Amino acid sequence: MGSDPGRRIAVLISGRGSNLQALIDAIAEQRLHATIAVVIANRPDAQGLDRARAAGIEALTIEHRAFASRTLFEEALVRELRERQVSLVCLAGFMRLLGPAFLDAFPNAILNVHPSLLPAFPGVDAQRQAWQYGVKVAGATVHLVNGELDGGPIVTQASVPVLEHDTPDMLAARILVEEHRIYPEAVSIMLDGQHEVQGRRLVRKPR
Ligand code: GRF
Repeated sequence: MGSDPGRRIAVLISGRGSNLQALIDAIAEQRLHATIAVVIANRPDAQGLDRARAAGIEALTIEHRAFASRTLFEEALVRELRERQVSLVCLAGFMRLLGPAFLDAFPNAILNVHPSLLPAFPGVDAQRQAWQYGVKVAGATVHLVNGELDGGPIVTQASVPVLEHDTPDMLAARILVEEHRIYPEAVSIMLDGQHEVQGRRLVRKPR
């Protein structure tokens, strides 16, 4: 298969794909030792599909709307991922909630990046939520995906200041820089396998 079988990942997207790009770049720069076996979008117009193809990565569209139920959609995703022997699934701006048909197929092996310091501000538009709330510190989280919205064990986080004259867009841009930095790091942590999930806590084993 031309790549280390334990280090084959998939990236699921719905849009812009800048976090996908951060993973592609980290692999190219050998900061992340992984192979992106496939990129899957649930929308044909997802910009990230072009980023994948430009990097020579297989890019598929599986439209959720084409399926009669969430379960059938998820089963189709799982089939494609299994066929490509993926061991870790990275959600990167993937705008569908995942249910048991998907979660049970990849236990403790699905990551998501979220633009807030969870558990604060789960859900959509997290950067605006944080700005509106008036917090002075915001940030990004990479976490394992479970059945709760933005709720799984945290792998890594980074904080940024909220500045006096920020707009939500300015804050989102500052957070995005950190997302791009910590997502490849979190993928490395997961692929290295030197960790344990203890309840809500992801604990790295001493070297
Ligand atoms: C990011 O802010 C991510 O945290 C959130 O959706 C956005 C996706 O951006 N889940 P991109 O598609 O990776 O550029």
